[in-house]
Amino acid sequence: MHRQFTDEPVPRELLDRMVWAASRAQQTRSGIRNIVVVDDPRLMATARQVLPGFVNNAPAMLVHCTDLVAAEKLAGRACVEVTTRLDAGAACAHLALMAQTLGLGTCTVTSWSDATARALFDLPEHIRPDVTVAVGFVPPSPPRAARGFTTAVHHNRFGEEWVNA
Ligand SMILES: Cc1cc2nc3c(=O)[nH]c(=O)nc-3n(C[C@H](O)[C@H](O)[C@H](O)COP(=O)(O)O)c2cc1C
Repeated sequence: MHRQFTDEPVPRELLDRMVWAASRAQQTRSGIRNIVVVDDPRLMATARQVLPGFVNNAPAMLVHCTDLVAAEKLAGRACVEVTTRLDAGAACAHLALMAQTLGLGTCTVTSWSDATARALFDLPEHIRPDVTVAVGFVPPSPPRAARGFTTAVHHNRFGEEWVNA
């Protein structure tokens, strides 16, 4: 995750590549995922003021959204409540990986209210904002990650130790 970016705007061709990467992530059914690409400097400035978790200076962001009507129609309540959330996470992972190949960085951001994000991006009632992903060029010496990456791994049953080969 990156929170410090250069001032350089992200060219549209690179934003295209990022959209492609997110679009190729798993999707419970086709026709549910919506992405808003934001690169208007004024809108980005407003986003920084009204989305509390958006604590970065990225010049662009992708807003991953779910069409709730399509999700319910195509795959039911579990799709609305659970699987589309998994799809959003998968898109974030694709974006983080694609960013690295393009010299870009991302920050996954969800600390904001649904209502604020809806108003900011003019989302209709049936479109739910899932996650905002900051996108920008990474400075030559980005700050080191603040936190470690620990995962508890279990073998066959919870609580039994997985021993590395
Ligand atoms: C679902 C999700 C939501 C997150 N929300 C925020 C957020 O609102 N603001 C933010 O700056 N980072 C957010 N992050 C980034 C995490 O804080 C980051 O993954 C964590 O800091 C570890 O990465 P780091 O060590 O590179 O910082 C979020 C990450 C995930 C996966």
